[in-house]
Amino acid sequence: MLSRKVWLGAAALASMALMASGAAAQTIGFSQIGSESGWRAAETTLTRQEAEKRGIDLKFADAQQKQENQIKALRSFIAQGVDAILLAPVVATGWDSVLEEAQEAEIPVVLLDRMVDAPDDLYLTAVGSDLVHEGRVAGEWLVEAVNGEDCNIVELQGTTGSSPAIDRKNGFEEAIAGHDNLTIIRSQTGDFTRTKGKEVMESFLKAEGGGTNICALYAHNDDMAVGAIQAIKEAGLKPGEDILVVSIDAVPDIFTAMAAGEANATVELTPNMAGPAFDALEAYLNDGTMPPKFIQTESKLYTQEDDPMAVYEAKKDLGY
Ligand code: AHR
Repeated sequence: MLSRKVWLGAAALASMALMASGAAAQTIGFSQIGSESGWRAAETTLTRQEAEKRGIDLKFADAQQKQENQIKALRSFIAQGVDAILLAPVVATGWDSVLEEAQEAEIPVVLLDRMVDAPDDLYLTAVGSDLVHEGRVAGEWLVEAVNGEDCNIVELQGTTGSSPAIDRKNGFEEAIAGHDNLTIIRSQTGDFTRTKGKEVMESFLKAEGGGTNICALYAHNDDMAVGAIQAIKEAGLKPGEDILVVSIDAVPDIFTAMAAGEANATVELTPNMAGPAFDALEAYLNDGTMPPKFIQTESKLYTQEDDPMAVYEAKKDLGY
């Protein structure tokens, strides 16, 4: 097995060779998590579009939410000798071996939107948002919105063991820490899907006096919030008023909910992670330019004051 230093040297030499031949990365494998949310669908669409624009042959593998499928896809990309790999890792742990295999094969790996618990020299760079910050922004919004009133919060977490579920929880808890009027009374995974968001919200409502004991919902993504909004309506309450709703992603559907007064705030996660990822890969493969270890995308807060229908119109055809 090559040591990591040797790998970097070998990769740089390979890059120089590519540069000398004037070639660019042609074949890139993309191991996508699945299609659990509107945001994920948009990321897939934009990645395909970016690849097409740049003349990249994108080999796409949908893992259907399973890490074992992602590991198989990575091994298959390695066996095919792709120029690079994009990996959106479903969970944070368990990647070391396959990333070492990619490194031994001198294939750079770029992480998209989620992080891994592995040494950072096993991947070239990661493109994503500050996931803790997103949770903090959502929490800070709620602290202000309730303005010192007592507020029982229910939380819909993302996929268990995924970096956004871990970090968005931590960031939110950080923001509400020290505000004794705010308490998370129930917290459970909704796996980032609408269906599970609705199901889990139904169980929260049942357990909490039909919802009368709940003041706010914090959902780790908009899809779960949209499912939960439906559950709140079916329980005879008004989402956005009886139960405040704050979530993350900024998908078009949350803006129609905001325009109807049924959702209150969302933190935007850009689905265009592939643009910066391909830029970094092109530079690396052309002349060995090392990108920063983390390429951070912006996180913007939207509320009902931000003309939600205008934002919906701007986003509705972007592949969500
Ligand atoms: O990793 C990003 C998260 O994954 C998005 O917030 C969520 O919608 C998706 O499933």
